[in-house]
Amino acid sequence: MTIDSRVSLKPYNSFGLDVQAEFFTMAKSVDDVMEAAAYGSRKGLPLLVLGGGSNVLLRDRVNGLVMVNRITGIELAHEDEHQVWLRVGAGENWHSFVEHCIAKGYAGVENLALIPGCVGASPMQNIGAYGVEINSVFEQLEAIHLATGQRQIFDCEACQFGYRESVFKRSLKGQYVITHVTYRLSKTPSFNVSYGAITQELERMGITDLSLRAVADAVMAIRRSKLPDPAVLGNAGSFFKNPVVGKEVLDRIAAFRPDVPSYPAGVNEVKLAAGWLIEQAGWKGYRSNGCGVHDRQALVLVNHGGATGDELYALSSRIIDDVQAKFGVLLEREVNII
Ligand code: FAD
Ligand code: EPU
Repeated sequence: MTIDSRVSLKPYNSFGLDVQAEFFTMAKSVDDVMEAAAYGSRKGLPLLVLGGGSNVLLRDRVNGLVMVNRITGIELAHEDEHQVWLRVGAGENWHSFVEHCIAKGYAGVENLALIPGCVGASPMQNIGAYGVEINSVFEQLEAIHLATGQRQIFDCEACQFGYRESVFKRSLKGQYVITHVTYRLSKTPSFNVSYGAITQELERMGITDLSLRAVADAVMAIRRSKLPDPAVLGNAGSFFKNPVVGKEVLDRIAAFRPDVPSYPAGVNEVKLAAGWLIEQAGWKGYRSNGCGVHDRQALVLVNHGGATGDELYALSSRIIDDVQAKFGVLLEREVNII
């Protein structure tokens, strides 16, 4: 394992921001992770782990040690008549893992096709799309505790998953490096096409016989029609979470905007569409220098080229203030601000 200094993180974040890491290393094994963690603690350096860098906003130079996790491997850990348990290296590309499952006929992650990034980050915010979140297939993860170098196992309950949430984004933030995740997949698919747009897309594609491939293809087609490809236009997906609010907030907004979309979210709560709130506040397609709001999906902030992390952050603050002023709803950033 080598440790370099003053390395540009441009290839390692999907906003394409050209910020520098004070120190940089790439971990390809658990031993590498241990070594990097020991080096960091000896030198008193904070450690930032990156997978694909598709859910971070790097505001400025990163002081300390940046460790890109590239632990690979997909291993059949266990199987029975109905299910398989796959233990996957944290540095595996998420979409390649989904494709692996589809090719093997293992069901459970097909709705999560084309989400950028690596397996190790999937539990961080309990990634979700098109009616599925990873907690539905999650068995356990293995992580290294940075302060002690101890290896620890976290099951589903210990991860405290929520909507775009886990214990690793809250009380245990920055304390662990995830090295492997084990998923439990089904040998007999029960397709989840309840998310309206999937059914419409399958019809458009002329598909009558459901398959893992067909569902993934439909999801990918929808995603490509809405979301910018980070290789073409820098972005980190949804910049904000969809706010979960009390029903009285929905009633208040519906009194002056009866067309406000909302989705059930537990007793007396609803989820509002942040993209709708931002679009109605007039931000969709906004552009100032290199920073912008995507013209097909207002929840996505984009780097048209030359934007800085601080400028994108400032734009996100203006949007939060404006949506609060116009709708009385406080948006929360989904992207990890570094
Ligand atoms: P990174 O951005 O590298 O890291 C994210 C956070 O996790 C950081 O805080 C980092 O320090 C930490 N981290 C990463 N790896 C580890 C590890 N091994 N151990 C400990 N901490 C770690 N997300 C969704 O949920 N649903 C979507 O539909 C979706 N669509 C997207 C579409 C686009 C176009 C883009 C650009 C992003 C989208 N995202 C979506 C967000 C993003 O892809 C996911 O959050 C993804 O899981 C991030 O993976 P990553 O490897 O890039 O994480
Ligand atoms: N909408 C607008 N204007 C916009 C964008 C959206 O009015 O510019 C409205 C849509 O018309 C629709 C509603 O908002 O009524 C929801 O839009 P969409 O289906 O596009 O999904 P989203 O809520 O914007 C969420 C996730 C995505 C995920 C999709 C599909 C969050 C924060 N975002 O987006 O996840 O892929 O649903 O499940 O929950 C991510 O987390 O990075 C991400 C891309």
